[in-house]
Amino acid sequence: MNVAVIGAGGREHALSYKIAQSPQLDSLYIIPGNPGTESLGKNIAIDISQKNEILNFCKSNNVKLVIVGPEQPLVDGLSDLLRANDIFVFGPSSKAAEIEGDKSFAKNLMKKYGIPTASFEVFKKSDKKAAFDYLHSSIFPVVIKASGLAAGKGVIICKNFDEGIKTVDDFFEHNRFGESGHTIVIEEFMEGEEASIFAVTDGEDFIILPPAQDHKRIGDGDTGPNTGGMGAYAPAPIVTTKILTIIEEKIISKTLDALQNEGKKFIGCLYCGLMFTDEGPKVVEFNCRFGDPETQCVLPLLEGDFLKLLFSSAGGSIEKDSIHYNGGSSVCVVAASQGYPNKYEKGFEIKGLDSVFDNVYIFHAGTKKKENKIITNGGRVLGITSFISNNNLTIAKQKAYDACNRIYFNGIIFRNDIADRAIK
Ligand code: AMP
Ligand code: GLY
Repeated sequence: MNVAVIGAGGREHALSYKIAQSPQLDSLYIIPGNPGTESLGKNIAIDISQKNEILNFCKSNNVKLVIVGPEQPLVDGLSDLLRANDIFVFGPSSKAAEIEGDKSFAKNLMKKYGIPTASFEVFKKSDKKAAFDYLHSSIFPVVIKASGLAAGKGVIICKNFDEGIKTVDDFFEHNRFGESGHTIVIEEFMEGEEASIFAVTDGEDFIILPPAQDHKRIGDGDTGPNTGGMGAYAPAPIVTTKILTIIEEKIISKTLDALQNEGKKFIGCLYCGLMFTDEGPKVVEFNCRFGDPETQCVLPLLEGDFLKLLFSSAGGSIEKDSIHYNGGSSVCVVAASQGYPNKYEKGFEIKGLDSVFDNVYIFHAGTKKKENKIITNGGRVLGITSFISNNNLTIAKQKAYDACNRIYFNGIIFRNDIADRAIK
């Protein structure tokens, strides 16, 4: 079958790498892709906000299945348009994507259906006084979140009342996140370790992929500002078999039923960000897509036909035995541009990419081809990912960092402690 992957990041490179292994694949198109996906399929230069152009491309190239990487086109209804034209889509409808696109909807859904999460209250710009009153009676720290999409940056942890007031003003009066921040969620601060769970689902039944842990902060020891994610590893040992059963029953299964009950059946990857609190696992957030960089270290741990899993899910009848965990472990270290997540320079040549690495795959993210050289073209540049056949994160970490030390570009930065929490 002909397949199209939508997106240009490390996640989409990893999805393409896995899909390219399927015996069912005829042609793979990546819209728009990156220099890394070029060797796996054909990159197609269409802007992913152009739904009709994507539809026309798929029709004229007999694309049977579209796999949507990022959240924005999902929230904007790309799946709905393609499905209305008889193309199979792995990715939720715009209504179901609200689970990520509208945090106030997600929080109210969890409250209504008894899915464990931090206690919260939602406020609109017109309710500023009520938000201040709520802060008056809060125990700090509290977490203030833009309800709409904010590229992973719309979450502020406020240590005291003054910071709370300032943050509410930033969102409501100074338009810090534009419209996305005109509705906010103020919630209880949760303490604990986090994990990312990917449930691949046809809307009713689901399979959970090996759990991963992301590293959101820019600096070693979880210091500095939040980023899109500076590295990840899988499987995350904090998610024991016993805890996984609780997550499946009390969170994933309940959420899928809740969405269906609300007329928002979810087909795709339901990403559940969890916090392991003293009271058990609680939901930090839901995303309507695979995580980045978690995907880069989760997919190499799957044996079987991943394309078959996605296609059967998209068709409404998931074939869960298409894949299984291969018993290995994987560490992905993100090499970023100095300055990220704030201002950074780009256009530097990346050296060392053609070295021969043992059990390491280099996923491209912010890269570009220029005169036959690969140059930096974004904040997160590469996902340097090791995978080994046994479950030993110490060795997987070592292999990933051996590779990091053989790759160079001007201003390269990466964290040195990816996977340490699991190793220690
Ligand atoms: P989100 O975009 O909702 O995943 O939030 C980004 C990050 O902020 C999470 O991965 C957590 O590290 C942190 N965070 C969000 N909500 C809370 C919370 N209620 N308590 C503590 N940390 C949180
Ligand atoms: N790594 C976090 C995310 O994909 O949202």
